[in-house]
Amino acid sequence: MMNRKEFKVEDIRKDFPILKREVNGKPLIYFDNAATGQTPQQVIDVISHYYAHYNANIHRGVHQLSQEATDQYEAARQTLQQHFNAKHPHEIIFTSGTTHSINLVAHGFGSILKPGDLILVSAMEHHSNIVPWQMLCETTGAVMKVIPMTQEGELDLQQLDVLLSEQPKLVFVNHISNALGTINPIGVITKKAHDVGAAVLIDGAQACPHIKPDVQALDVDFYVTSAHKMCGPTGVGMLYAKEQWLKKLPPYQGGGEMISEVTFEKTTYADLPHKFEAGTPNICGGIAFGAAVDYMNAIGFDAIAAYENELLAYATKKLSAIEGLKIYGTSPNKTSVISFNIDGVHAYDLGTIVDKLGIAIRTGQHCAQPVMDFYGISGTARASFAFYNTKTEIDQFVTAIERAKRMLS
Ligand code: ALA
Repeated sequence: MMNRKEFKVEDIRKDFPILKREVNGKPLIYFDNAATGQTPQQVIDVISHYYAHYNANIHRGVHQLSQEATDQYEAARQTLQQHFNAKHPHEIIFTSGTTHSINLVAHGFGSILKPGDLILVSAMEHHSNIVPWQMLCETTGAVMKVIPMTQEGELDLQQLDVLLSEQPKLVFVNHISNALGTINPIGVITKKAHDVGAAVLIDGAQACPHIKPDVQALDVDFYVTSAHKMCGPTGVGMLYAKEQWLKKLPPYQGGGEMISEVTFEKTTYADLPHKFEAGTPNICGGIAFGAAVDYMNAIGFDAIAAYENELLAYATKKLSAIEGLKIYGTSPNKTSVISFNIDGVHAYDLGTIVDKLGIAIRTGQHCAQPVMDFYGISGTARASFAFYNTKTEIDQFVTAIERAKRMLS
C-alpha cells in the first residue's frame, strides 16, 4: 500500500464506510474503539477478494487455490513478523485473539510450574489476563500475587521490586490498560523481571492500535494482541513468543495440521509455528490482519500517536471542565482512553442517553472488575478515540454529556 504523505483526518475518514452511517437519526460518533476498532475499505476489499477469488484450505492442497491461500496466509505472518520485529516468522502464531493467546501460554505453563511457584499479575489487568492464570494456579498449585497500582492508575514499581525479590517464574502485565489508558513501562518491567529469571507476557491488545511494539527491543518473552482493535476483523489475533519458549511449551490443542506423524501408539508434533495452529485457522482473518497492519503502517504510527494525543488532551480538558466529572486514570503516560463518572449519575444511563444522540461509548466494568474495586466504583463511562475521530466529534460528545447530566441529576 502507498505511504500517505501527510495525516489528513478528513481523507482517512473516507476509508471507513461505517463512519457515514447514522444511528438514531444522527451521524455516528464512534468512541468505543477500545472495545473494537472500525475496518477500512482497504481491509474489507481484502476480505471480499479472498472469498471471491481464492477461498481454500491452506497447507494441505496441491491445487492452485490452496497454494494461493497458503501464500497469502504466510505472507501475512511475515507482515506481522516485520511489524513487531520478531526474529523469525515462526515466532508468530495465529490465534483467535488475545484471550486465546493468553490461554495458550497459560496452558503451556501447566507443565512448567510447580506447587508454590509464584506468578505476578498487575492490578490493572483485563479479566482475560487474570482468569486463565487463576485456573492455572488451581491445577498446578502455583500462587498468584498482584503488583499494586496508584490512584493515578500507574503500576507501583517499588512494590514490583519487593515482589520480584520473591523470585517469581512469570510476570504478566498489559502494555496499555483498557480501563484507564495507562501506558505501562514494559521495557523497565521486563528488564527487572529478567534480572530475577522471570519470564514476561505482555497483553498488547490495547497498545497495538496506537503504537508499534518492537518485541526484540522490549525483550518480552510473549506478546499477544487481537486484529480487531487495529483495523482488522474479529476472531483473529496473534501470539508472539521467543522461539525457545515455543519449543519448550507443549501444544495447546491437538488436531490436524499441528502434527508430524500420527499412529494410535504415538503422535509427533509439527515444527513451529504449526505445532500451535491445530485445525483450519481463520485463513481470511489472518490475511486481513496483515492487510490491516499494512493499512496502519501506511498512515504511520508516529502520525497516529501524535494525532490521538491531541484528541486525548483536547477531550480531557473539555470533560474536566464539567462539574462533578471525575476521570479515572490520570497518568501522564496514557493513550486516548478516558474513563469517567459524573456525581450522582449512573454510567449506564449516561451511555444510553448519548447513544440516542448517535454516540457509541462503553459503560460498566470494562472486563476489569479489580480496577473498579480499587476505585470503589461499580463501573465507568469510557470514551476511547481512534485516529479517524475528530475534535468536532469530541465537542458534540461533550455537549451530549452535559445534556445527559442535566437530564439525570
Ligand atoms: N477489552 C475490550 C474493551 O476494553 C472488549 O472494551
